[in-house]
Amino acid sequence: MGQAGHARQILERITPGGRLLGIDRDPAAVEAARVALARFGPAAVVVQGRFSELGSISVQNGFDKADLVLFDFGLSSNQIDDPKRGFSFQREGPLDMRMDPTAGVTVAKIINESDVRELERIIREYGEERWARRIAQFIVARRPLRTTGDLAQAVEAAIPKAAWPRDINVSTRTFQGLRIAVNNELGEIEAGLRAALTTLNPGGRMATISFHSLEDRLVKSFFNVESKDCICPPQQPVCTCGHRATLRIVTRRPVRPSEEEIAANPRARSARLRVAEKL
Ligand SMILES: C[S@@+](CC[C@H](N)C(=O)[O-])C[C@H]1O[C@@H](n2cnc3c(N)ncnc32)[C@H](O)[C@@H]1O
Repeated sequence: MGQAGHARQILERITPGGRLLGIDRDPAAVEAARVALARFGPAAVVVQGRFSELGSISVQNGFDKADLVLFDFGLSSNQIDDPKRGFSFQREGPLDMRMDPTAGVTVAKIINESDVRELERIIREYGEERWARRIAQFIVARRPLRTTGDLAQAVEAAIPKAAWPRDINVSTRTFQGLRIAVNNELGEIEAGLRAALTTLNPGGRMATISFHSLEDRLVKSFFNVESKDCICPPQQPVCTCGHRATLRIVTRRPVRPSEEEIAANPRARSARLRVAEKL
């Protein structure tokens, strides 16, 4: 749901007659979206919840069958830009990074209480950061870390200046890794995609917007598996899996934003849209 930008565009095209259910785990986004969509009356329902709860939330709100499920992964601009949420390495704030600040553990707890190997794993696996070991060691040596500035400084000290990336901030990958871990983002996506498959009507479509390769890879592989009749290893002569395709891939390659769109909205630059149709 985020700032309801897509929701508004969709509602303008499906009303009168159509209805939209918006879900966000962030209570602040839910509140703002309810205000932004008030003019659509009962055609727009906004509920606080997670992607993984899509199945139960849909049923509870009378949306048990849908023609379109759109996932827009990642963070909203409101979350990134609010220093109190702790997502930004450019603004001093508490080490929180929870999309839902009322649930789960903060990034401060992970940073200050995990052992060095677990920290390294999170930063390497979810941040795709090759300096993960040194960063984890520097973090542990400086504990307790209290603010986003403390974390950014630990990363800056851990990576030799000559190896700082040119195209992104030196802290981007570490912040991304920790944020993914705190919010169990990949588990949420996986469960959400599965729930969407059950919720869609035959001929209905699911669309996903990813912002980094871990998200996009998950969607790509989910679509690939679900669009095949057999998922046995290729060397196996006879099918034993009994798997049946449930999706048809509509976008063989992900749709990327145009130059104009990136100029108007630089945060769209890494977005990739994939679409699949329920069989
Ligand atoms: C990129 S923003 C969405 C922007 C929105 N499409 C718009 O048009 O304004 C992503 C939103 O997804 C929410 N989100 C991320 N992971 C979630 C999850 N597992 N369950 C529910 N909401 C989630 C975030 O809180 C954030 O508000």
